[in-house]
Amino acid sequence: MKELSLTKIKQTQEDKNRQIELTDSGVIPVHIAIIMDGNGRWAQSKGNIRLFGHKIGVDSVRDITEACAQLGVKFLTLYAFSTENWGRPSAEVRGLMRLLVSSLRKEADNLHRNNIRLVTIGQMDRFPDDCIKELDEAISLTEDNTGLELCLALSYSGRWDITEAVKKIAKHVEKGRLAPNLINDQMIGDHLSTASIPDPDLIIRTSGEYRISNFLLWQLAYSELYISELYWPDFRRNELYEAIHSFQKRDRRFGKVYKNKKDEISD
Ligand code: IPE
Ligand code: IPE
Ligand code: MG
Repeated sequence: MKELSLTKIKQTQEDKNRQIELTDSGVIPVHIAIIMDGNGRWAQSKGNIRLFGHKIGVDSVRDITEACAQLGVKFLTLYAFSTENWGRPSAEVRGLMRLLVSSLRKEADNLHRNNIRLVTIGQMDRFPDDCIKELDEAISLTEDNTGLELCLALSYSGRWDITEAVKKIAKHVEKGRLAPNLINDQMIGDHLSTASIPDPDLIIRTSGEYRISNFLLWQLAYSELYISELYWPDFRRNELYEAIHSFQKRDRRFGKVYKNKKDEISD
C-alpha cells in the first residue's frame, strides 16, 4: 500500500479548480464534524480483517484533513473512538490503539508543516500510556499553529460530555457561587469539552447509517446532516466536496421563518 502524506500529495489542477468552484458557489462550513463509519464492513467486503479497514481509513483521514485545510475550514472534528467502542473485542481495541500510535508518529510532522493544530476531546485517561504520550507530543508540537484545528474525539460520547458539564456546574452550585436558576444553555455549552469551538455547521456520517451514535449530542442542535453511502475508507475529497455542495444549498432557518437574511421580516 502506497503511503500518502500531506506534503507529498501533489494537488492536481482539477482539484484546485473544484475547490475554487466550491468557495465561489457558497459558504464553506466553519466547523465540519464526521462520524467515520464502515471501516470493518469495507474490509470484510474485500475479504480482509476489520483492522485493515481501520488502516486504510487513516488514508481517508489524511485526505479529508488536507482538503479541509486547503478549503479554509476552521474546525474539523473526527469521531475516531466512542465510549461504547471499548466494548469491542480486545484484539480490535488493541489494534486501534496501535494504529493511533503509529499514525500519530507518521503524521505529526505533516500536520505541523501544514499549520494544523491537533486537539482531542474525550476521556483520555482511559488510553494506554504510549497513546497518551504520542498524542501529547503531537498536541504540543502543533499547539501554536493557526490553520485548521483538527479535533479527534477519542473515548468520546455526547452523554459523557454532558454529564461532565453537569458535574462541573453542580460544583459551582454546591460552593454557593451559582444560583440554579442562572443555569442556561450558554453556560452548559461553556462547560462542554468543545467550549472553545463553535457548534458544527455540517455533520457527515459515512456507511449509510442514519444515526448519531452518541456523538456531539448537545452541539448538533442545528447542524446540517449529510449521510454518505460510502464506507469511510472510500470517503475521499470528492465526496467531501459533494457534502459541502449539499450544505451550500440548505436553507438554515434556526427555527425562524426567513429563507435568507435579505428576506428577514423585522417586527
Ligand atoms: C468506524 O468503523 C471506526 C470505529 C468505530 C473505530 P467501524 O469499525 O464501526 O466499521 P463498521 O461500521 O463495523 O463497518
Ligand atoms: C460510531 O460508529 C463511532 C465512531 C465512528 C467512532 P459505531 O460503529 O461505533 O456506531 P454504531 O454501532 O453503528 O451505532
Ligand atoms: Mg460502525
